[in-house]
Amino acid sequence: MGELAQMRFVKVGHRLLDTEHGQLASLVDEVETAIATGKDESVVCNIYDQLITATERHFQQENVRMYQSGYPDVDRHMALHAGLLNTLLGFAAAPEREPSRGRRAFQATRFLESWLTRHIEEEDSKLATHLHRIGMP
Ligand SMILES: [Fe+2]
Ligand SMILES: [Fe+2]
Repeated sequence: MGELAQMRFVKVGHRLLDTEHGQLASLVDEVETAIATGKDESVVCNIYDQLITATERHFQQENVRMYQSGYPDVDRHMALHAGLLNTLLGFAAAPEREPSRGRRAFQATRFLESWLTRHIEEEDSKLATHLHRIGMP
């Protein structure tokens, strides 16, 4: 993982969450680099698809941990995850606004990045504190 990707999202102090957030940061970097270096649309979209799959998998991991640990705010936090995934589907399904798949992937990546920045700071940090308190890795 590159140094900049490492710094993209704040660390919440929970190994699993920080590792997965770092993986998402790397994929955000890869999408942006692919666009900046003029890679084919198919290459950009392929990395973007990996980013979405990794995001879904990460949300599932957090959802399971919230349930298993009895996290009191589980329903609201899960609804935030679901809402983000719905918004991303909206980007994919709006070719009339932006006909290029590569541009749509880029815009969706920018949106996802800023969403994750705020969500990790405001929500995942609280979850990390809870997991620490009950000693769940
Ligand atoms: Fe997270
Ligand atoms: Fe989360």
